[in-house]
Amino acid sequence: MSLPLSVLILAAGEGKRMASRLPKVMQLVAGRPMLAHVLATARALEPADLCIVYGHGGEAVRAGFTEPNLRWVLQERRLGTGHAVAEALPGVPPDHRVLVLYGDVPLVRASTLRALLEDDSPGISLLSVQLDDPAGYGRVIRDPAGAVARIVESRDASAEEARVRECNTGIVSAPAGLLAGYVQRLDNRNAQGELYLTDVIGIAVAEGVPVHANPVADPGEVLGANDRIQLATLEAAYRRRAAETLMRAGATLVDPARIDVRGEVGLGRDCVIDVNVVLEGVVQLGDGVRVGANCILRDCTIGEDSLVHPFSLLEGARVAARCQVGPYARLRPGAELEHGARVGNFVEVKQALIGEGAKVNHLSYVGDASVGAHSNIGAGTITCNYDGARKHRTVIGEGAFIGSNSALVAPVEIGANATVGAGSTISNDVPAGSLAVTRARQKVLPGWQRPRKSD
Ligand code: UD1
Ligand code: CA
Repeated sequence: MSLPLSVLILAAGEGKRMASRLPKVMQLVAGRPMLAHVLATARALEPADLCIVYGHGGEAVRAGFTEPNLRWVLQERRLGTGHAVAEALPGVPPDHRVLVLYGDVPLVRASTLRALLEDDSPGISLLSVQLDDPAGYGRVIRDPAGAVARIVESRDASAEEARVRECNTGIVSAPAGLLAGYVQRLDNRNAQGELYLTDVIGIAVAEGVPVHANPVADPGEVLGANDRIQLATLEAAYRRRAAETLMRAGATLVDPARIDVRGEVGLGRDCVIDVNVVLEGVVQLGDGVRVGANCILRDCTIGEDSLVHPFSLLEGARVAARCQVGPYARLRPGAELEHGARVGNFVEVKQALIGEGAKVNHLSYVGDASVGAHSNIGAGTITCNYDGARKHRTVIGEGAFIGSNSALVAPVEIGANATVGAGSTISNDVPAGSLAVTRARQKVLPGWQRPRKSD
């Protein structure tokens, strides 16, 4: 029977090498603090207790995570990983199983941790990693029979121990009662003068408690970040993983190394995403959606077989099936395109409904408006929605035709099948089926002689 779970996340590091105003675990990977990734993974394990050990100066960490059901423990002085765990354990019931994670190791998968916890023996299980270059890591030392004997830190290792490639990731699971006793017995007689959590392993083995080391299949999961170069490595690893998830779900990525996923993406089948596309927040793409190069989609839903042409920015928009957007279009929050609508180049749409089959193809601003089905909004049409104090709505009926370079001064209503002549400034309602033109009549003076420079 599995024990209730307590997850302890160590996050007291300052991260001096980040050269940043932020505590280390607040540095971003895929647009979210590293700690947010670890927290989401921890939550997926449904722990009974979730605790973050934060450090002196780490108030910004606490302030960044106001969600409920989080236990915060301040580690005033950083005396080592063993000390950090000892500070958090008094809040953990002795019949729990403890899992120790790290705020600066954000890519570990919940499935990997579940497998570690399934080793639900009375003993201790740690996650190890086989590394070609083990420098800096604690080494897993095994006895002649192959059982784990202890962990030796890099700086305390003999030359022979230093050659071991099986390394400690730091991630470990142990019964809370046992762990609480062991951390009290740690001392700091070592190269770094710290209380090492890793010394718990030797103590457990001496007491006959079984210790398992489970190697992680993908070493990319246990990468940590101490500086911005390592942070970029994490970002690349995350990018690759997110791209693979999209490809497994049935999307074609023209170059998996040139897409950034910084949120939750849902996909239909046969989507094609070109290079340098950024997907942020919650993005939902229907079957057969194509996204051209250099587009940014943030919190958007795009319907089946719609096309988003290159260099478009879509934010908080809902696009139905078979629409076309861009190139160079900007859909702002509240933009809604119904089936088959088109929004073309250099068009900005905000809080506006573009009806079924309607077209706004060139150089327009449509804000606080609704455009009826199958209407055509000519190039350069502007809804003048702001009078300097308040916003007003423009309502355009079905089948209307707005001539190029018209200004629609809101509040104003254009009736169904009405026509507005090019270059008009419309400040009064236009009845259904009628034509409104406000431009001056053209004058023609035949045989006109331009003035000449006198000599
Ligand atoms: C630790 C492990 C090492 C392992 C490596 C993997 C120990 C003694 N060593 O070494 O075996 O190979 O991780 O990356 O555990 N922290 C606190 N409070 C403290 C000390 C550390 O919160 O008092 C946090 C740090 O912010 C960091 C993490 O614990 O996120 C690891 O601490 P660090 O001192 O960097 O350990 P390593 O030397 O990397
Ligand atoms: Ca470290």
